[in-house]
Amino acid sequence: MREIVFATHNEHKAREVREILGESWKVLTLSDIVCHDDIPETADTLEGNALIKARWVRDRYGKDCFADDTGLMVDALGGAPGVMSARYAGEACDSEANIDRLLGELAGSGSRAAHFSTVVALCLDGEEYLFEGRVEGEISRECHGHGGFGYDPVFVPVESGVSFAEMSADDKNAISHRGRAIRKLARFLDNPKLN
Ligand code: IMP
Repeated sequence: MREIVFATHNEHKAREVREILGESWKVLTLSDIVCHDDIPETADTLEGNALIKARWVRDRYGKDCFADDTGLMVDALGGAPGVMSARYAGEACDSEANIDRLLGELAGSGSRAAHFSTVVALCLDGEEYLFEGRVEGEISRECHGHGGFGYDPVFVPVESGVSFAEMSADDKNAISHRGRAIRKLARFLDNPKLN
């Protein structure tokens, strides 16, 4: 079983990834390699931030690593909040405040089209790879549902017609940006030499 680091402290994300990657990879988190560094996410793209995190672990800890970065891109807002999604309403990273700001910015706008994008950067055997997962949808006018996190109560994917917060975790993972990106990573890791 080969070891690979997922550059996250989020155990929930790590569990989800382990389920998708299966038996051939032992997925370690930052806590497992005793990395408590405050990795600077200073790039202005998802790709840039994902690469910063994956390279950080490769360069300082000498381990193969992948990292993800996600943003919500709203057409009428020129792609905002984008890379700023977590901190849209300030450094507190408060989901309710982020949603309030988003609905405020969109009030009176004709288009509510948006998409989530997750980029996974992989550093493996001295090479770098990028995988993207996307889900298209719309921003609703008010919150619906209590599941999930972040912008889930106001994001309605085109495939489902109800918000992410109204879906089960499995149904969300089947169509979500992160699920799609991680499955692309998993297909690659199944046989990196063939890719
Ligand atoms: P991260 O890169 O996974 O930390 O995501 C950045 C921010 O995007 C999070 O803080 C959330 O605000 C938002 N976000 C990411 N994934 C989701 C999701 O699946 N649903 C709702 N919001 C999300």
